[in-house]
Amino acid sequence: MIRSNGTKRVVLGELMLAGGHPAAGELIGEKSGVSRQSVWKAVEALRDDGYRIRSIPHKGYLLEELSPNDLDPTMLENMLCGCPWGHPVLYWPSLASTQEPLKEMARQNAPEGAVVTADEQTRGRGRLGRYWESPPGGGLYFSLLMRPRISPGNIQLASLAAALAVWESILELFNISCDLKWPNDILFGEAKLCGILTETASEPGKVHYAVTGIGLNANVDPHIAGADARTASLIAITGKPVHRGKILSAIVKKLHHLVSVLETPEGGRKLIEEYAKRCATLGQEVRVVQETEDILGKAVSLDERGALVVESGDCRRVFAAADIVHLRQNR
Ligand code: BTN
Repeated sequence: MIRSNGTKRVVLGELMLAGGHPAAGELIGEKSGVSRQSVWKAVEALRDDGYRIRSIPHKGYLLEELSPNDLDPTMLENMLCGCPWGHPVLYWPSLASTQEPLKEMARQNAPEGAVVTADEQTRGRGRLGRYWESPPGGGLYFSLLMRPRISPGNIQLASLAAALAVWESILELFNISCDLKWPNDILFGEAKLCGILTETASEPGKVHYAVTGIGLNANVDPHIAGADARTASLIAITGKPVHRGKILSAIVKKLHHLVSVLETPEGGRKLIEEYAKRCATLGQEVRVVQETEDILGKAVSLDERGALVVESGDCRRVFAAADIVHLRQNR
């Protein structure tokens, strides 16, 4: 596992700020309150993490190239500097699933906003017990720890907020307008670009934690096993590889903002309004896949807890969680 430490983070921050110019070790030390020796050690550690840093006599250190690891935690913590979430970020080259270590950390009182990410997952998990294909170097896989100050009955709203944060980030970074499929898939056309799994622990009146896992097909080759016409990826849409760290930090910042709004008295209503505008499920004829029977009907609205309201024949049915199939586009 790779994690940042305070000095490494501050030193990298200073080198990035210097913007292509050398930064004097003494000055970095003064600014960050550490000795020149510690700055040197941090520079060595950053080099070990893949950063290209040149020592220029009498001038200082020049950051020539960021780490080839676009999920490097020291870089991510710098990108998230100023955001209360994203501290710490823990990175593993390979994990069974990013959900498990973060849930364990949540039980051990890890701070809200902690992030676990991995280049590869060997047992990535999807909703409803499904498998989430997670090849190395391709997807963005991360889990975020939230402790939203909302009633446990409203926890679905935090998950809808995560979907909205992904939607907004993709628009902002790539100018791509996706659709949301209730409850929290992000679609490009009808193909799935991102899935979200939220696991929670609560007691009456209090949410202990919500661990939200986001799996986004960033640089996933659309031809790999498991991918099909229903799978979209950013590399295929934009025609070039994308920087996973930039996407992760944009999502974390946006989600922090959305959850802060959600915690206000009118926050739930505002979130649902924003979500509904981007939700392709609403207005659609849908099949609600249930264990015993499937329900056919029209998805008409979301209730105040984010549950889906479906008109089927003469009755209205409300689904808190379900697997939905869009039958045809009506919008
Ligand atoms: C779905 O659409 O079924 C949800 C997929 C969620 C996948 C992410 S990848 C990061 C996190 N770790 C996991 O094992 N699953 C989630």
